[in-house]
Amino acid sequence: MRSFITLLPLLLYQCYALSSDSHASNRARILHDEELLALGGTITLTEPETKVNNCLMHHKLNEINFAFTNPEHFNFTYHFFKYKTNIHTSKVYKIIKDLPKGAALHLHDVTILGPDYLMNITYMDHLYVCFAKDKVQFKFSDKMPTDPCSRHWQLMSEARRLSGNVTNFDAELRKHFTLVVDDPAKVYPTIKNTWEAFMNYLITVGSMLTYRPVWEEYFYDALKAFREQNIMYIEVRSTMPKLYDLDGTTYDPLITAKVYKKSLNKFMKDYPDFTGAKLIYSPFRNTDKKSVAEYLELALRIKAEMPDIFAGFDLVGQEDKGKPLIEFADELTAAAENLTYFFHAGETDWYGTSTDGNLVDAILLGAKRLGHAYALAKHPLLIKEVLKRDIALEVNVISNTVLSLVRDVRNHPLALFLAQGLPVVLSSDDPGAWDADLISEDFYVAFVGVASKSSDLRLLKQLILNSLEYSALEIDAKKTALNKFNSVWNDFINSFKCSAY
Ligand SMILES: *[C@@H]1O[C@H](CO)[C@@H](O)[C@H](O)[C@H]1NC(C)=O
Ligand SMILES: *[C@@H]1O[C@H](CO)[C@@H](O)[C@H](O)[C@H]1NC(C)=O
Ligand SMILES: *[C@@H]1O[C@H](CO)[C@@H](O)[C@H](O)[C@H]1NC(C)=O
Ligand SMILES: *[C@@H]1O[C@H](CO)[C@@H](O)[C@H](O)[C@H]1NC(C)=O
Ligand SMILES: [Zn+2]
Repeated sequence: MRSFITLLPLLLYQCYALSSDSHASNRARILHDEELLALGGTITLTEPETKVNNCLMHHKLNEINFAFTNPEHFNFTYHFFKYKTNIHTSKVYKIIKDLPKGAALHLHDVTILGPDYLMNITYMDHLYVCFAKDKVQFKFSDKMPTDPCSRHWQLMSEARRLSGNVTNFDAELRKHFTLVVDDPAKVYPTIKNTWEAFMNYLITVGSMLTYRPVWEEYFYDALKAFREQNIMYIEVRSTMPKLYDLDGTTYDPLITAKVYKKSLNKFMKDYPDFTGAKLIYSPFRNTDKKSVAEYLELALRIKAEMPDIFAGFDLVGQEDKGKPLIEFADELTAAAENLTYFFHAGETDWYGTSTDGNLVDAILLGAKRLGHAYALAKHPLLIKEVLKRDIALEVNVISNTVLSLVRDVRNHPLALFLAQGLPVVLSSDDPGAWDADLISEDFYVAFVGVASKSSDLRLLKQLILNSLEYSALEIDAKKTALNKFNSVWNDFINSFKCSAY
């Protein structure tokens, strides 16, 4: 990683060194030009924004200066689970939390809300549970479920009562609703362990959330939680799992999309100040050509049924283990005319592998945005394409650390993307899975841990504007959203009091 960081300035420097000006002025010019090149570098802050920036930077520099001389106290050098609760004492974090943050564009539906929310669901009626070895399975049903279960099904309320100690029972149960552990280095020594735990978590949580009434309520509550974090619009990726009812009825995936629309409509009626949400249909990539063809057909069906909330298509799951995009190039090319793509691509540490190659395919297939694009820094020509085609990069720093791509976030390639002014948007991927707040922690970690020490409110503002600019909102809706954003942003700036933090 280090060689990339040093290479770019070096190339620039060779040109500047030809100038006969003094060393000091050459040096100042290079640094100034780099600042202009970086994301947000061309924004000019208004006078009130400058006041907010001074406060923000006072706290940011305090944190960084202290850590620079006391590196053992630099949180981002540790695993996220080790410092996540510390984050909330940071004044920079508190300011970021209150900031209007535009849109969140990279999220997976069942991993938005965290373990506390999921625990509440286990207190609902008609829930059955099967405690298999190291695993839990759930099913809402009006009678004893007949689904395969390696031990036996019992009513959740019975299991809880019979345990004799509800506190202990709930504490143990809660562990199945989060990847967070006290000793991450021991529990997740490699990416294999992390992803296995993550997949188990998805199965456990999915069995509970796909009960139709819960699904409906969950999305409403997720929207509410985002609104409370000063987000005004989201785009959600969904595998469109089949929902089920108490009597065992299961529904066509199209119904899943309709339930989304129903929840969204209800939410918009209750909170008309919210801008809305769109869906990105994102089935699992570890499959065959025939299934992908079927997925694409379903995508077109959903689009035909609800064009207003359908944004496009993606393929998900651990990229190293799934099929690369090139396997489905024919199918994806044929459907590209009628579908917008938002592919996960390059979420890997493996340079030159099939996963790394997904970046080329995603770009050539016309992706509007790239999920993660973590490996992009290793592809100078693709970086040029990204700029030329104006493809946004959906970066999720905390996700990348938790899912074992990078430990110390100062080594995250986002630093290179920012330095080169690439169109980045920040998001949180699966905040519920690691019990993070919905987006502010991701902004905080990126701002203090990854971005340059000197990156300031201009970077945050650009990232936030990008989130609306690169959203799938139609032209008019986007204009309205940007106007609305400018108004809440100005309200925030004008009423800001540094002493409140
Ligand atoms: C982490 O952050 C908190 C809050 O800013 C700070 O008190 C602490 O010293 C930092 N470092 C470590 C290693 O916890
Ligand atoms: C769980 O339910 C309780 C009681 O209804 C409620 O006060 C609490 O806010 C809920 N927690 C979450 C995370 O939804
Ligand atoms: C129940 O379990 C909790 C947590 O394990 C423990 O602290 C508590 O003492 C237990 N209560 C009883 C009555 O055994
Ligand atoms: C795309 O949509 C157009 C217009 O609805 C239709 O004529 C065409 O067959 C569709 N192409 C594919 C590959 O579905
Ligand atoms: Zn993702």
